[in-house]
Amino acid sequence: MTAARGGELKIELGRRYRFAAAHRLHSAQMSDAENARIYGKCNNAYGHGHNYVVEVSVSGDVDPATGMIANLADLDQFVQREVIEPFDHRSLNEEVDAFRAEVPTTENLCLEIYRRLKAFPKAKLERVRVEETSNNSFEYAGEEAISGSDVAR
Ligand code: NI
Repeated sequence: MTAARGGELKIELGRRYRFAAAHRLHSAQMSDAENARIYGKCNNAYGHGHNYVVEVSVSGDVDPATGMIANLADLDQFVQREVIEPFDHRSLNEEVDAFRAEVPTTENLCLEIYRRLKAFPKAKLERVRVEETSNNSFEYAGEEAISGSDVAR
């Protein structure tokens, strides 16, 4: 997407990241039987893991001096600090504060990653897309725009 504005070009930059993490889908608001019925094998008490893929899109004006919206090294460093280090090879339920109270579904994971990346100072966060498996992905673009695709968990 490009749009001319005051002689500057607004372009969107997409970057892909990966991390592996374990989770267990279990809601404290439901009985054990309900949890088992709703989440099935994802409710297994010992958890299971996924190789998550995160796509981050940011936008901004192209800096005429550098020819870039933002330096990829800055984005990488930010995503590394805010998402990869705290999530990679972790138990989302046990080691990420947000998931002590919330069920670590990929919907909630996508929202949490968006919240963490919103503060990126060098460009505007447009959206976060998280792939849990090759069949499931969830996308969040802030406020009202939420969508997901679920072929088979
Ligand atoms: Ni899972």
